[in-house]
Amino acid sequence: MNGKRAVLAGLMVARLGLVGCSGPGTKEDSMNKSFGTTKDGQAVERFTLKNKNGAEMQVMNFGAIVLSLKVPDRHGQLADVVLGCDQLSDYETKTPYFGAVVGRYGNRIAKGQFTLDGQTYTLATNNGPNALHGGLKGFDKVVWKAKALQTSAEPAVEFTYASKDGEEGYPGKLAVKMVYTLTDKNEFKIQYTATTDKPTVVNITHHSYFNLAGAGHGDILGHEMMINADRFTPVDVTLIPTGELRPVKDTPMDFTKPLAIGARVNQTDEQLKFGGGYDHNWVINQKQAGELTAAVRVAEPKSGRVLEVLTTEPGVQFYCGNFLDGTITGKGGQVYKHRYGFCLEPQHFPDSPNHANFPACVLRPGQTYQQTTIYRFSTVK
Ligand code: GLA
Repeated sequence: MNGKRAVLAGLMVARLGLVGCSGPGTKEDSMNKSFGTTKDGQAVERFTLKNKNGAEMQVMNFGAIVLSLKVPDRHGQLADVVLGCDQLSDYETKTPYFGAVVGRYGNRIAKGQFTLDGQTYTLATNNGPNALHGGLKGFDKVVWKAKALQTSAEPAVEFTYASKDGEEGYPGKLAVKMVYTLTDKNEFKIQYTATTDKPTVVNITHHSYFNLAGAGHGDILGHEMMINADRFTPVDVTLIPTGELRPVKDTPMDFTKPLAIGARVNQTDEQLKFGGGYDHNWVINQKQAGELTAAVRVAEPKSGRVLEVLTTEPGVQFYCGNFLDGTITGKGGQVYKHRYGFCLEPQHFPDSPNHANFPACVLRPGQTYQQTTIYRFSTVK
């Protein structure tokens, strides 16, 4: 890195360091700008994080949403690789979780019901007969407290949210903290922690839609993907796991070697039919539970951009944008058509509260939920 860039990067960090939510000058600082007001009158702020390489990420405290993420291609050209919208009102009403945190329980819970310590809890069914992504007003639709971290050498924003006891039907007051860092290795790192005052279930994930050619620049079917998983969790027609951990071998779910997403997505296969394409949870080959593990690698041949996902979670939902159908106009007026973006959502398995053989997602008072997920960007020649 040349000297001028180093000084500039230093300045960015320094300015970020000034913008704590309660600090003076918060509103005026260019790193921390208003992104409008929610329908119920809450002020929303946008933060810009820039690392030493010039990679840039914008986030806001509504849904802790990643608004944009600009990373270089093999020639150093930056492009925004996440789908999104220009306006807050669109995020409130019409996006399918673009860039958002998803919780308290990401993915599906069968028939919106689970039993914990002998007590049955009922959730809203917002996805056919099932509960999806934390409910009618999940973590993606609330305003988080946010502050730029002053202690971090790399630009970072801390988000906190206190989810009430009984919110969306879940027991226990859950205190959630997330730190988003844009590292100098061009990584978007998320560190999650949560504590509760009553036993509850927790499964928090991140829902950015990626397109490594640049958001809005065609579908993602030519991206080559490798998933470090020998098994996946097959689902029924409503996308609830049957409970089986099925080998991927000899199925279109086998991404143990790199293959284009589109190579088999339209094959005749019951699982692909149920998902309308890939919309499944893979069981990551983890040596030890909770160990940070390289889970997925995706390369886009034309730009040379590569995304690797590392996570401490046991599973990853790979969803290839099957529900995108051209009805959403995103950033800069671009229309997001079928499969214009893909999601990689590190998580516990769907419907875990109803499957004793899946890794448990129960959090009890005195315990701390922890997750680290890294979206690492690089390039190949
Ligand atoms: C997840 C689900 C999909 C869909 C998207 C949002 O990836 O598994 O079925 O709900 O979120 O549209």
